[in-house]
Amino acid sequence: MDAGRITALADVPDDSTFLFRVADESGEEREAILVVDGVAATDGGNPTDPAPDGGDQTDPAADADDRIACWLNYCQHLTHIKLDKGSGAPMRDGELICANHGAYFEADSGRCTFGPCEGAYLTDLEITVSDGDVYLTDEEYEFVGTGPLESDDLDRASTSNVEF
Ligand code: FES
Repeated sequence: MDAGRITALADVPDDSTFLFRVADESGEEREAILVVDGVAATDGGNPTDPAPDGGDQTDPAADADDRIACWLNYCQHLTHIKLDKGSGAPMRDGELICANHGAYFEADSGRCTFGPCEGAYLTDLEITVSDGDVYLTDEEYEFVGTGPLESDDLDRASTSNVEF
């Protein structure tokens, strides 16, 4: 499917998620999130340290490209439950938190590190960063627009069971 510009990289928050909508090949719309792993920038690390892979960490564009990920906006415990319920998913130490039962997901790998679905992975979507903008370049999904689905009552009744 065609690449669609999602947003400017600068508009993706460091401590939460950027919510948007995609359509699959059948036209069904779903929600997806962009997330930046802010740990590298905030853990006191030296940005001039050589990258483990030999990359150049002094190139901010390359760094941002490596740190942003895109996931479908659904928990792997109960897959109709959204991580970002419309105002950004909670995050702690570079991990997304499902507010329903407290599962933690690594922002960069999508792996659940704690909670009822430990070991499961969020569903990833392919994105590309170019000239400071983030594009959806996934073969299976088409960009629809920013923000939540307009009519979606699957997760309406869910509330947080976790205190932050
Ligand atoms: S629905 Fe996400 S942890 Fe239970």
